[in-house]
Amino acid sequence: MFEALTPQPADAIIALMQACQADTNPDKIDLGVGVYKDATGATTILKAVKQAEQLWWNEEDTKTYVSTTGNAEFCRLMLDLMLGADNPALTRIAASQAAGGSGALRLGAELIKAASPNATIWASTPTWANHIPLISSAGLKMDSYPYYNRETLGVDFEDMLAHLEANAKAGDIVLLHGCCHNPTGADLSHDEWGRLADLLVAQNLTPFVDLAYFGLGRSMDDDTYGLRKLTQICPEVIIAASCSKNFALYRERVGLIAVVCKDADTAAIAKSQFGAIQRKIISMPPDHGAALVVRILSDETLRQLWMEELSEMRDRMRDLRRKLSEALNVQGGETMSAAVVNQNGMFSTLPLSPMQAIKLREEYSIYMTNSGRINIAGTNNENIPRLATAILSVL
Ligand SMILES: Cc1ncc(COP(=O)(O)O)c(C=O)c1O
Repeated sequence: MFEALTPQPADAIIALMQACQADTNPDKIDLGVGVYKDATGATTILKAVKQAEQLWWNEEDTKTYVSTTGNAEFCRLMLDLMLGADNPALTRIAASQAAGGSGALRLGAELIKAASPNATIWASTPTWANHIPLISSAGLKMDSYPYYNRETLGVDFEDMLAHLEANAKAGDIVLLHGCCHNPTGADLSHDEWGRLADLLVAQNLTPFVDLAYFGLGRSMDDDTYGLRKLTQICPEVIIAASCSKNFALYRERVGLIAVVCKDADTAAIAKSQFGAIQRKIISMPPDHGAALVVRILSDETLRQLWMEELSEMRDRMRDLRRKLSEALNVQGGETMSAAVVNQNGMFSTLPLSPMQAIKLREEYSIYMTNSGRINIAGTNNENIPRLATAILSVL
């Protein structure tokens, strides 16, 4: 029967990673895959994670199953962290641990499919490449709203609002990046979050907030501002969070799905749905990474250490943004220079054509996606001058 299968194209970002690994140029620059790298180019395990792992090795006394919605303490600590422990929305929220941010997005999509199968999910143009397959393969319709202007390198906020107002129907879902928009790095301002929340309520639209990089933008408070604002204004909010980047737990697959409901009774039903949906797909989420997050967030010393390590990653990326911005601030590079320093998180999308991105790869061993997305953490003090010169030369 397997002869009937057709080959699938390799994932573009994995193919880019492999091409970079095979490149023998000692000066190659890898700006492809979305993982944080330190100044030596390594993606290390955080000290807080290592210490938690040592403690947990002694403390863990069973490997029996946890539950279909995972570790309840993990869900509680994560929600407190993201929403604030005194957020009134916490009294009407359902949450489940998920297999990474991707698992959370999928559980969210499955819940929407069960509750409102005809809803359309609106995603930004552009959005994280995996949003569309992850959500649409749950059987949901997807459409897009304008977001990033490739000329100004900022958010086309008025167009975004006007498009949603004119095209989204009551009951639809709007997928939003809570902070550090992937792939553009262009986020909404505080004022824009407020205006968006008002529009969502007026049009009876539900926000679906993907929070994959919180803590890596400007600050924990700033990175969760938009989500908190939505929970103050909108009656229902869907949240998919990942601990892959901010805890550097990538392969442990740690994520959270939550829905703020209109009341506590509905939240209890939504939680039972999460358990039933997860049971049908993977039965239960993996425990180890979530247990480490619990260990870190519930221990004052480890939590402090994690916060410091998170600040270090964030500050390093802000510093690299400043340096790349300075290097690009010459004739022809001014817009890029201003955008790179103002954008947030791991990514920026430069105004390069696929041909220019390919030229950078073939002639300069600089690896970025064909859309011009760069991983800021792939730059360093030594390679920034060469990178800026190469980018300006292909413009
Ligand atoms: C915007 C966005 N959402 C979700 C994810 C999912 O992350 P993971 O499934 O690795 O936790 C990513 C990962 O790159 C992402 O960029």
